[in-house]
Amino acid sequence: MSILIKNIKEIVQAEDNPQRMVAGKAMSHINTVKNGWIFIVGNRIQDFGIMPVPDDILRQLDSGSSTIDASGKMVFPSFCDAHTHLVYAGSREIEYIDKIKGLSYEEIARRGGGILNSAKRLHDTGEEELVAQAMERLNEIMLFGTGAVEIKSGYGLNVKDEIKILRVIRILRSLSPVTIVPTFLGAHAVPAEYKGRQGEFVDMVISEMIPMVASEGLADYIDVFCDRGFFTIEETDRILAAGAKYGMRPKIHANELDYSGGIQVGVKHNALSVDHLEFTGDKEIECLLGTETMPTVLPGAAFFLEMVYAPVRKMINAGLPVAMASDFNPGSSPSGNMQFILSMACIKYRMLPEEAINAVTINGAYAMGLNEDYGSIARGKVANLFITKPIPNLSFMPYAYGSNKAGQIILNGKVVN
Ligand code: NIG
Ligand code: FE
Repeated sequence: MSILIKNIKEIVQAEDNPQRMVAGKAMSHINTVKNGWIFIVGNRIQDFGIMPVPDDILRQLDSGSSTIDASGKMVFPSFCDAHTHLVYAGSREIEYIDKIKGLSYEEIARRGGGILNSAKRLHDTGEEELVAQAMERLNEIMLFGTGAVEIKSGYGLNVKDEIKILRVIRILRSLSPVTIVPTFLGAHAVPAEYKGRQGEFVDMVISEMIPMVASEGLADYIDVFCDRGFFTIEETDRILAAGAKYGMRPKIHANELDYSGGIQVGVKHNALSVDHLEFTGDKEIECLLGTETMPTVLPGAAFFLEMVYAPVRKMINAGLPVAMASDFNPGSSPSGNMQFILSMACIKYRMLPEEAINAVTINGAYAMGLNEDYGSIARGKVANLFITKPIPNLSFMPYAYGSNKAGQIILNGKVVN
């Protein structure tokens, strides 16, 4: 099985020497190949170059090969969405109305809405139905260009339901062509039955949930909603230390609601990523510089909750890398459309289109531990890419917000639409 894509107007993020991630000034550069071709064999990119297609590639075509003429169209590596909660039951438009009327995210949470509302719905919904709902969301984001996605648990809030949501994620991995990275988020909110006994809930996460999740091999990463009104630094510290014993590296929610110390505790535990970061100051930037932790920003949540936006310009100017994800979830960002995320990034963070595209491709891949195989068009990487509709240039991708610029989607070397 092979696919030759020829006459490509421009291949975006084509790398001869794959980078692990890009930081600072380098984020404003994207290597492209104009008038190019890409040759896919099996599930991998074998080669790419400038037209005409060389003879030794043409000689490899056989009856199992297909050729796609991409005249006037560009090729992008699939987006890597490193932070979502896309397994959830139903939706929460009621809170949306409350928000419009002026209630804050924290006020809604205090009234038993928010995460607790989704936990109740998840509890009442069967596994099959959860799979069906999540598959619909996965298909939707796939058609907007996402090829790899992290999915968190976190709507269980008790052992049984956390295992249930993680098993759903495992089923999705076998059903969807989108690559899925599972993260355990036991400490997402304190359930009603533990009200006033948050410490005991944390003890339960550590002594019951983590060992159980690890014994079934249900998660690669561990997350905590470390923020004002949710879990403290000390609690986060304990949970991350416990997760490390079972080989789960942190990817945590940090500094969404305050300068809460989440970034520092994440870096202390060598988190692969710290996410949200609306409240990031000089101290936090200093703490992140030179570490292996990817700062990951989620403009969809800031937009939907009308919060301050993370100071991305300042972070990049200081030399940090930045990844960007959708945060697809029913409460703070009910969309996984990474093309819209790109548009928001350019307008709200003042990112250049190149910086934004780096943030959702190679840096997003890094933030899921997938950069060796995903996040760019490079020889030997998994063939996860999409051919755009006819578009004039790469800046058109964030510019033409709202419309879907992705056309034919190729995942694992197969056309999926
Ligand atoms: O990333 N911040 C914590 N968790 C999610 C929201 C989850 C929800 O409201 O259901 C977030 O914004
Ligand atoms: Fe989140």
